[in-house]
Formats: sequence, structure tokens, C-alpha cells
Amino acid sequence: MSKIRKKEWFDDDSFWEELYPFMFPEQRFADTPEQMEKVLALAKPAGKAALDLCCGPGRFSIALAQAGFKVTGVDRTKYLLDKARGKARASKTRIEWMQMDMRDFVRPDAFDLVLSMFTSFGYFDDKNEDLQVLRNIVASLKPDGVCLIDVMGKERLAKVLEPTTSDVLPNGTRLVQRHEIFDDWTRIRNEWIVIRKGEAKSFKFHHTIYSGQELRDRMELAGFVDVKLYGNLAGDEYGPNAPRLIAVARKPGAPKAGKHRTNKRRPLGKNQE
Ligand SMILES: C[S@@+](CC[C@H](N)C(=O)[O-])C[C@H]1O[C@@H](n2cnc3c(N)ncnc32)[C@H](O)[C@@H]1O
Repeated sequence: MSKIRKKEWFDDDSFWEELYPFMFPEQRFADTPEQMEKVLALAKPAGKAALDLCCGPGRFSIALAQAGFKVTGVDRTKYLLDKARGKARASKTRIEWMQMDMRDFVRPDAFDLVLSMFTSFGYFDDKNEDLQVLRNIVASLKPDGVCLIDVMGKERLAKVLEPTTSDVLPNGTRLVQRHEIFDDWTRIRNEWIVIRKGEAKSFKFHHTIYSGQELRDRMELAGFVDVKLYGNLAGDEYGPNAPRLIAVARKPGAPKAGKHRTNKRRPLGKNQE
């Protein structure tokens, strides 16, 4: 059952609906199978049960299903899940879709792989809720299961951030983006202004930006081990020139038989009798 919470920017369905053509152009879907191969090469999941957390229109869910995974796609936005359902039907893939908030979704010990792709992490005004999401992921992974998170890193933003950029899309629409860092260099506030046929519409959103070390610390705090950072899905080094911050981490394995401390008494030494 969903908790009652204060509304935040991502709760506005029209945000996802109106920005869909800019966020999810067809080329992005076309590029996904190749990205999927890289994801699997980096994460190396041991089994075939996968969760695509914040799956949106299902790009990675469908690519995972096509790679032979049993997939659950979770997202809060009905409009995007409907797109995902349509695309899954067209590609004849079977996926379990769930409309749910990432703060609420937990399925204990169920998945070999959990993905959070294309900056779907860091959304909450209360940063402890990001930590809750990581804890949910740990709980939902099987022992030794692996999680891959893909965001833009703070190191990169510090180097390339321009307060305003402007692009014209192939259909003639102009997209003006304004960015501002706030909250002691921990968050970014964005405004996207879409200018179509002389009419301008503005969309505002903000999220936490993590440095490599901050994301690693959070993941370790949530219970992950073996956190590795990469600068792209090809597995290149992370740093200020890296286009993405990719974190790959594991849930600790189940304790191995024989590695438990037992209550068996060791034979006493001569002088200890
Ligand atoms: C930038 S999109 C990424 C979609 C997808 N991961 C991809 O790579 O195409 C972010 C997604 O997060 C979802 N989302 C935002 N806030 C959420 C929340 N609190 N719980 C679950 N999903 C959320 C949005 O609906 C959207 O689909």
C-alpha cells in the first residue's frame, strides 16, 4: 500500500507526458539493446531474475526480457507504464509491470539483478529516502545479487555545467535548459523551456547529485559490498571526464556452510584443563 506523502515534482504526471518526446526519442530505444549487452558484461548477474526500477517506457525491461530474463518493471507513472506495455506487446515480450513508488517496492530475496538507469536515483527532497530506496534494493536482491545504478556524476557536472543551453530538435521545437546548483553543491535545479510554434512551456525539476564517493558511501551504508565505479557502460574509469557515473555493487552472499562459528569446543591445551 502506498504511503501518503507530500507531493514532489515527479508526482506530476503531465511532466512525464509532455516531456516524453524529449526524454525518449526513438533513437534512445534503438540504442538500448547494445547498452544492455554492456550492462550485463559489467554486472555479470548469476541468474535470470531482474528488476528494472523506475523502468519508464520499458527500454531496459524489454531488452532484459529479450536477453532471456524474467523481468519486473516498477514505475510510478501510469502514462509511461502504458507505453511500456504497448512496446512489450509489439516486441512479444512478457514482463511483470507494477505501478509503485520506488520507496515502497520491496520483494525480499527475489532478484539476481536490479537496474536503476538513466538518472532515476536521487529524486527525493529527503535524502534519507534515497537511502531507503537503496535498502529496498538490497532487500530485494538474492544473496550475491548485483545492482547497477546509472546517473550523471557530480565531478562531471562541476566541469561541464553551463547555466543555460539551447537546442533545436529535428521537428523544429526549441528546448532551452537552465541549471542551477543549490543546497551546498548537493542538488541541481533544472528548468526545461519547450518553445513550440511560438508558445513556451516551462517544466521544473530538481534532484540530488552524487559524487562517486558519495554514491559509494550511501550504497555501503545501505548494505552493499564490492561497490565499483565506472565512467560509462563500457567499464571505463570514472572521473571528471566520464559521461556517466555507473555504480555496480553486490548484496553480501549467504554465509557459507562450514564458515559459521560453531559451539563445538576446541580441545583444551595441556595447561588449560
Ligand atoms: C529519467 S526516467 C528513466 C526511465 C528508464 N529508467 C529509462 O532508462 O528509460 C525516470 C523514471 O523514474 C520514474 N519515477 C520518478 N519518481 C519515481 C518514484 N518515486 N517511484 C517510482 N518511479 C519513479 C519516472 O516515472 C520515470 O519513468
